[in-house]
Amino acid sequence: MIQSEKNVFISNHPLIKHKITILRSITTGTNEFRQLVEEIAMLLGYEALSDLELKDIDVETPITKCKSPILAGRKLAIVPILRAGLGMVTGLTSLTPSAKIGHIGMYRDEETLEPHEYFCKLPKPISERVIFVCDPMLATGGSAVDAINLVKEKGGIKIKFLCIIAAPEGVKRLHEAHPDVQIYIGNLDEKLNEKGYIVPGLGDAGDRIFGTK
Ligand code: PRP
Ligand code: URA
Repeated sequence: MIQSEKNVFISNHPLIKHKITILRSITTGTNEFRQLVEEIAMLLGYEALSDLELKDIDVETPITKCKSPILAGRKLAIVPILRAGLGMVTGLTSLTPSAKIGHIGMYRDEETLEPHEYFCKLPKPISERVIFVCDPMLATGGSAVDAINLVKEKGGIKIKFLCIIAAPEGVKRLHEAHPDVQIYIGNLDEKLNEKGYIVPGLGDAGDRIFGTK
């Protein structure tokens, strides 16, 4: 990961770059798209978890006794922003099988681009967990900012946001609204177009994951 500024990390991993290229292609069908979103989420999650706390325990190997580290500290919660964030959940739980999962339902009004919340259910107490809010696309940033506002209102403290593709406009808005949140990005794209789509992007992530439209 390359740290572009405090709490903003952009992947430079060749596997992530390769998979994002296939994901972008208009010829990639639903099945492969879904599989790739899951794999990229796993790779991003692996990088985003590199600061997890450890503690040493005593262990006896077939050779000798030694001290060796295990995970310590806060447990995890994965919070996808519906719908497209759902595509990232399996990849993340493959790394952290005991994580609890919350859901935030958000859709962007196609005219105003304003996000609207329609669902929120988080594991309790959320304050005790490291929270991974995930959504493949960070476009204007409106959905991510509102989702994280909700998580904080419910008591969330230690929050990481994971996305596969981001626009500079969305990163700026999210970072300014929530400077304490660590943002992990698969690829930083060029810009937003006049309809609020990321350029070059991959189109509508929800539609491509679920085969709608
Ligand atoms: C997409 C995407 C994000 C949001 C990003 O969801 O998955 O949630 O747009 O845009 P923003 O940064 O400008 O808010 P959409 O609203 O299309 O809903 P869907 O996942 O149900 O398709
Ligand atoms: N949401 C998407 O799914 N794609 C974009 O390019 C922007 C927002």
